Amino acid sequence: MTGTAERAARIMARCDALAVYSIEPGAITRPYGTPALTAAMDDVAAWMRNAGMTTRRDAIGNLIGVYDAAPDVPSPQTFLIGGHLDSVRNAGRYDGILGVLSGVAAVERLHARGTRLPFNVMVVAFVDEEGLRFHTTYLGSRAFAGTFDDAMLEVTDSEGRSLADVIRANGRDPGDIPAGAQDPASFLGWVEAHIEQGPVLEAADLPVGVVQAIVGGTRAAITFRGVAGHAGTVPMGNRHDALCAAAEFVLAVERVAGTRAGMVGTVGQLEVEKASSNVIPGEVRLTLDLRHHVDTTRAEAERELRDAAREIADRRGVALDWQEVQGYACTVCDLDLTAALARAVERAGIAPRRLPSGAGHDAVTLSAVMPVAMLFVRCRGGVSHNPAESITESDVAVTCQVLDNLLDDLAREHA
Ligand code: GLV
Ligand code: MN
Ligand code: MN
Repeated sequence: MTGTAERAARIMARCDALAVYSIEPGAITRPYGTPALTAAMDDVAAWMRNAGMTTRRDAIGNLIGVYDAAPDVPSPQTFLIGGHLDSVRNAGRYDGILGVLSGVAAVERLHARGTRLPFNVMVVAFVDEEGLRFHTTYLGSRAFAGTFDDAMLEVTDSEGRSLADVIRANGRDPGDIPAGAQDPASFLGWVEAHIEQGPVLEAADLPVGVVQAIVGGTRAAITFRGVAGHAGTVPMGNRHDALCAAAEFVLAVERVAGTRAGMVGTVGQLEVEKASSNVIPGEVRLTLDLRHHVDTTRAEAERELRDAAREIADRRGVALDWQEVQGYACTVCDLDLTAALARAVERAGIAPRRLPSGAGHDAVTLSAVMPVAMLFVRCRGGVSHNPAESITESDVAVTCQVLDNLLDDLAREHA
C-alpha cells in the first residue's frame, strides 16, 4: 500500500483525523503548548514509528522522526522533510500538516521496500510556525536551528503565561533548548510541501509548483492609550478615545500597503481593554503584519506607518507604544536544491512553474543553517487560514511522486 495513490488517500484521511484536535469545539485551533497539539504530535509520532522511524521530542516540543541511512554509510548526513502541526485560530486542515504527512509518506515507501538511502531522512513536525499564542512565529524551527533568542522565553500569551512557563508545564526544560539545536554540518537540506495559499497554480492548471523565495515580514504589537470616560457625559471635543486612534491607524495600514505594488498589510487583532458599551475606550492593543518581497520597501513602509501612528496619537492626545515583535528578511530558496526539486517535478510529468510565497514558512528560519526548498500544492480558490482550505487527493498523489523522485535523485547523487 505504498503507491502514490494509496499514500495520498492515507494523507487525506490523516489530515481529517488530525483536524479533530483543537482547543475550540467545531474549529481547528491548535496553538503552541496545548493538549490539542500534543495529541496531534502523538498520532504523527505513532505513524512515524510504523514507517520505521525512531522518534523524539526536543526541548521546545518539535517532533523529530529519523529513518536511518544505510548501515554501511560512515557518518551519514541528514535530509529533512516536514512542516508544522500548530495552526491559526479557526484554521484549515492542510496548512503545515501536509508537509509533515507527505514526509512520513515518503519514508513509508522506503520502509516498505526495505530501502535505506546514503543519508538519514528526518521528518520534522514543528510546534509553532504560526505564532498564534505568542504572536511571534517560528519558535520551533528557531530552537531547532539554534537561532532561538532566550529573551523569547519571557514573552507572555493573552493570559499572562510566559513561554518558559508553558514549556515547563509540558514537562520540558527551557534550559535544554540551546543543547537541542542540531549540528548544521550534518544537514543536506530541507524541503516542505505546503499548500500554495494563493491562486497561481489553480489559474495555471498545475497541481504543484516550485517556490523561488519567501517574502520578508514585520510583526508589531501596538498600543494606543487614551483616557477612559463616561460615554454619556464627556463631550466629543474633550475625548482621548484610543479606539478612534486605532481605527485611523487601521486605515493607514490599508493605505500604506495598498499604494505599494506587491505589499500586504494586515491588522489581524484588535483588543479594546475593559470594553463596555457606555465607556469611551481607554486602551486599545492591535497587531500589525506587514510583508513585501523587497526588504527596503518594507522598512520604508514601516517607517511611514510609525510616523502615521505618532501623528494620530499626538493629534488625539493619546500615548503610543510600538513594539516590533519580529522582522524577517526575504528568503531566497537554495538554487541547487530548488533546481533538483524542479527536476523532480518535471520527472512527474509537470511543468515546473516557479512562484513566490507571500506566506511565511519555517524555511525562513532553517535557511540560516541549511539549503531550503519548497513545493507548493494547488489549493482551491487560493483559500487558506480558513476552514474552507481544500486540496485534492490526486494533487497529493503528485506531491508524493515529486518527493519520491527527489529522494531517488539525491540518493543517486550521494551514492
Ligand atoms: C504563516 O502562515 C504566515 O505566513 O503568517
Ligand atoms: Mn499558516
Ligand atoms: Mn504553514
